[in-house]
Amino acid sequence: MKALILAGGEGTRLRPITHTSAKQLVPVANKPILYYAIESVAAAGIAEVGIVVGDTAPEIEAAVGDGSAFGVSVTYVRQEAPLGLAHAVLVARDFLGDDDFVMYLGDNLLQRGVDALVKDFASRPADVVASILLAKVPDPTRFGVAELDDGGQVVRLVEKPATPPSDLALVGVYLFGPRVHDAVAAITPSARGELEITDAIQWLIDNGHTVQSQVLDGWWIDTGKLTPLLEANRLVLETVERRIDGFVDDAATVEGRVVIEAGAEVRASLVRGPAVIGAGTRIVGSYVGPFTSIAPGCEIADSEIEHSVVLEGSRIAGVARIADSLIGREAEVVRAEQGPKALRLMLGDHSRVDLP
Ligand code: TTP
Repeated sequence: MKALILAGGEGTRLRPITHTSAKQLVPVANKPILYYAIESVAAAGIAEVGIVVGDTAPEIEAAVGDGSAFGVSVTYVRQEAPLGLAHAVLVARDFLGDDDFVMYLGDNLLQRGVDALVKDFASRPADVVASILLAKVPDPTRFGVAELDDGGQVVRLVEKPATPPSDLALVGVYLFGPRVHDAVAAITPSARGELEITDAIQWLIDNGHTVQSQVLDGWWIDTGKLTPLLEANRLVLETVERRIDGFVDDAATVEGRVVIEAGAEVRASLVRGPAVIGAGTRIVGSYVGPFTSIAPGCEIADSEIEHSVVLEGSRIAGVARIADSLIGREAEVVRAEQGPKALRLMLGDHSRVDLP
């Protein structure tokens, strides 16, 4: 069994962050989302991991290397353009050979990992060529939705249906046997110009093959947009254990499950967990509220922030209060010492500011 992790794509829904970096490397609880995917396939006992990369290949390769840090061997598969999830399988043909594989969308997070799914697929009946993972969602019209027969076998898949046949959405993890290569070679691009994995799976069904399904246990988040990304940060922070390796002065209070990395400093501030404060970050005269991840090398001074993710090297000074925000690398949010009472902005393309 191999793994194919998809880390290409455009990431338009997470601009402007994705103008300068890969969305799969946005940190959740100060760890890139992609690392959770690699750790999850490694925990399932998979040693050979292919990572599909696009324009952000150099950054992904720099962050993951040869995979040895995760106990796996990584092969990078270049996808010239984000032409769809089934296209990613097509370009990975040489890496995949005729092995079974788990395909994992590199911006998805699963609470329980893929161990049980992988084991289950390895001992499947001979006629089963693929297995999909489903989750009950309140609003199926936003997802790929599966229609099942009484035995739980997939009869039909529909993308973003106006009248959903069920409330079971496709989760970003799929298990395939080698038959899928016939499917991805046979299908044609959809109306949006992509080779859709749902079309490939439908092709398998239409050609008489059996596609199994399982309903997911635990939470699953597709982090490709701001709100789910913050939600993922919240859910992962819920699981952190308190660990104070940095410096906390006598005038500071650190409440609950908080990680303060070595080299971080908290002075005259209140940090209320769950929260993580990265190495070398300084928190001075500030309030850092629950569900906040501050990356290494940041400065938070005379400010209040909660339920937010701040990336490396950013500075927030004199601002009360920031909430539900994602702040990119080396960004500055500061209160001006002088000048007219006006907002003065220098925002990247596709930035968004919500004023109270
Ligand atoms: P999506 O989130 O569906 O697509 P996207 O990354 O282009 O984002 P947006 O819609 O905001 O523009 O992709 C799911 C995952 O699969 C994500 O990790 C990117 C990856 N991917 C590829 O590697 N190749 C592709 O051709 C596509 C479409 C996605």
